[in-house]
Amino acid sequence: PTIHVITPTYSRPVQKAELTRLANTLLHVPNLHWILVEDSQRRTTLVTKMLQDSGLNYTHLNVETPRNYKLRGDTRDPRIPRGTMQRNLALRWLRETFNRNSSLPGVVYFADDDNTYSLELFEEMRSTRKVSVWPVAFVGGLRYESPKVNAAGKVFGWKTVFDPHRPFAIDMAGFSINLRLILQRPQAYFKLRGVKGGYQESSLLRELVTLNDLEPKADNCTKILVWHTRTEKPVLVNEGKKGFTDPNVEI
Ligand code: UGA
Ligand code: MN
Repeated sequence: PTIHVITPTYSRPVQKAELTRLANTLLHVPNLHWILVEDSQRRTTLVTKMLQDSGLNYTHLNVETPRNYKLRGDTRDPRIPRGTMQRNLALRWLRETFNRNSSLPGVVYFADDDNTYSLELFEEMRSTRKVSVWPVAFVGGLRYESPKVNAAGKVFGWKTVFDPHRPFAIDMAGFSINLRLILQRPQAYFKLRGVKGGYQESSLLRELVTLNDLEPKADNCTKILVWHTRTEKPVLVNEGKKGFTDPNVEI
């Protein structure tokens, strides 16, 4: 099967560095299609050139998250949903591009641009029949969060501290979905409104599967193959108001 990797991305000083590192990882993965979705009004030349030069098989999309979009309807937390509209656009693209009865095998994975992915992870997810799951390091205030797997190899809950009673208490980086399932459930999207923090993943997964359907990977969820790393913001104070370095030099 082809692995369709969906990555939301937005413009900031470290964007090209993040995308370069991710592209370098993806270049090692056979039969991969990268769907890169910019959170912007138009596709930027920085990303366009970067993709052209990458040597990857890709699709380049864009949709801008409305500036004032509030995720939680809670005025104390005016965060816009990070990457949600971009992931939904990619899901729509898949449904418009692949026929519902298409027999072309595929697996869909949501890979944020700043995480760290082992190559083994992609081989683990390739055999996804419905939804595969595995642990993710550096989330929820823990070394790692993980699905709970019983002796029979079934997922029966979530080893997390933050709200383990969520239907799917799992980070975006912790699961993959068979493309056929995405095409068979054309109404399934990430919810934009009325979603509490940490429920984003559940809002999609509950439309697709039940706990019983989940396929634990990474040696029954005992191995860490993905890390929810976050990049430090670079210090650019010496640029000053007018900027010090040549703005025509792309970073
Ligand atoms: C956590 C989860 O791991 C994300 O999957 C989830 O989307 C996010 O929380 C959330 O709060 O919704 P975190 O590291 O906090 O991740 O989020 P980022 O890595 O900053 O953003 C997730 C993705 O969305 C990245 O690929 C980023 O480039 C993209 N993004 C972020 C945008 O496209 N637009 C933005 O304004 C911000
Ligand atoms: Mn991140």
